[in-house]
Amino acid sequence: MTSPNLIPTHAKAVIFDAYGTLFDVHSAVGRHMAQVGADAARFSEVWRTKQLEYSWVLSLAGRYEPFWTLTEQALDYAFARFPDIDRSLRPLLLEAYRTLNAYPEVLRTLQALRMRGLRTGILSNGDPSMLGAAVDSANLAGDLDLVLSVDAVQIFKTSPRSYDLVLKALPVSASEVVFVSSNRWDIAGAAAFGFTPVWVNRLGLPDEYAELAPSAVIASLDGLI
Ligand code: LAC
Repeated sequence: MTSPNLIPTHAKAVIFDAYGTLFDVHSAVGRHMAQVGADAARFSEVWRTKQLEYSWVLSLAGRYEPFWTLTEQALDYAFARFPDIDRSLRPLLLEAYRTLNAYPEVLRTLQALRMRGLRTGILSNGDPSMLGAAVDSANLAGDLDLVLSVDAVQIFKTSPRSYDLVLKALPVSASEVVFVSSNRWDIAGAAAFGFTPVWVNRLGLPDEYAELAPSAVIASLDGLI
């Protein structure tokens, strides 16, 4: 579902989740599909699922490790779950994760939003180093006003302290921030915080978190412009 008036007129900034929203997390395994073999899709899914689970478990336990460390640990778990996949691919897969493909519409979306006078930015669980590498390799730095990492508060989304980084960085109120994520759990967190959340449902997944609903659902970032 797309709408030409999806961004409220009072909005001042459009802030994006990074992994899964701007960057295709499955493009790392995708680049080495032939060597990974027949279980590539399931392997990539386990890698991503465990990476996220570790972030929530640490945050609830009052602990923090950089997201890159969790990405490495989750990859090691995925290798353990799929013993037939060649572990010597580890450095190649990690290198690919630092330079993930951006979705094809990302650049034109950021440019169109800025043309309308909106600030653009990232708020991600990714630590500054991995985010910097991803932004640089996709050539997005010139079209982003800010790149924020939860590393600054050492707690992952969906903690309100993580979303609050946006309000500390920009002179805006929560409702003036359109928060865009492909991760439905992140949309729930953004809705609870008071942002105007837009869910990018690329895969047509069923809705969840009914009490913490998005204000709009789009199939790709083109739905914003
Ligand atoms: C991000 C991941 C969790 O925050 O999608 O970028």
